[in-house]
Amino acid sequence: MSMPSDPSATSTRITRWLCCPECHAPLTVNGSEILCPSSGFRGSIRDDVAVMLPEATESFFDDTFEFMMHGKLNPGDWSFGYAQQIESLTRSLKPGMLLVDVGCGPGLPYARPDGVEIIGLEPSFKSIRVNRQVDLRVLGSAYAMPLADASVDAIVCFYAIHHMVGDKVNDSISNLSRAFREFGRVLKPNGTLFVFEMTPIALFLCLQALGWNLGRRLIGKKLDMRFFSAKEVKAIGEQTLPRGTIHEMTEFKVSPAQPSHLFSACPGLEFRGSCTRWHRGFTNGECHPSERPVGGHVQSNECLPRAA
Ligand SMILES: C[S@@+](CC[C@H](N)C(=O)[O-])C[C@H]1O[C@@H](n2cnc3c(N)ncnc32)[C@H](O)[C@@H]1O
Ligand SMILES: [Zn+2]
Repeated sequence: MSMPSDPSATSTRITRWLCCPECHAPLTVNGSEILCPSSGFRGSIRDDVAVMLPEATESFFDDTFEFMMHGKLNPGDWSFGYAQQIESLTRSLKPGMLLVDVGCGPGLPYARPDGVEIIGLEPSFKSIRVNRQVDLRVLGSAYAMPLADASVDAIVCFYAIHHMVGDKVNDSISNLSRAFREFGRVLKPNGTLFVFEMTPIALFLCLQALGWNLGRRLIGKKLDMRFFSAKEVKAIGEQTLPRGTIHEMTEFKVSPAQPSHLFSACPGLEFRGSCTRWHRGFTNGECHPSERPVGGHVQSNECLPRAA
């Protein structure tokens, strides 16, 4: 489904849905200028994209764009990477919800569910400017989301967290922790976070642990991915998401005989065979009913301690 661009609708959505990525204050839009009167942050509207990164020059994630556009998915790749995951995502979405697709790339792998509004957040300008399936295109990053506290119903992140790398393994862990803190901040009470990601086999993880820092030193930003183990993602979620968040881990298994070329074209690395066989969806579910804040104006999405 393709969304027509309409400058006045874009400005309205920016003021309605977005806030300053630095101080979270409301924004003003004047023509193509976006301004935070509190911090002085300036963004812009370019090609109908809300540019919310301080500098919107070339992003090295622009490389991913070529792959995302030209890597045609075969049916095997689809069942491996998306079919079951999308079913689990769309089952939870209801009309009236606001969904943020973090690292949405140039196109959504799922049909927009009826009545659900979608913000696409993406640090590659090349990618986000051609994504016509979202209601608002935002050039931005998961590390500093231009969204107010407790403002969205759901977040989905398809295969983006393995790109949240820094120069060392520990930087990648801090980056993902920053992203998760942001996810916890912007989700409404009872909101849901879906993180779909590959979890490579143990041998691959061992090799990655031994060689990633060196690889990054040698080939720099060409090594633009590092895979988290399911255990690491769970631990980061537990440390960063609001108290009382329920974690659900679902393993999406595919046949070991399944050929997959889905990830073979990523720059800098080539994956084939068993390391891409296992998928886990990491779902950060709702507060337990006894932990939901009741009544009043909710400032944060922190769940209340469970009643004894
Ligand atoms: C493998 S692509 C997946 C694209 C899309 N979600 C899909 O499944 O078709 C990973 C995406 O994550 C984006 N990404 C990388 N770092 C990010 C960050 N800090 N915040 C948000 N997205 C990021 C990349 O630009 C890229 O578009
Ligand atoms: Zn500000």
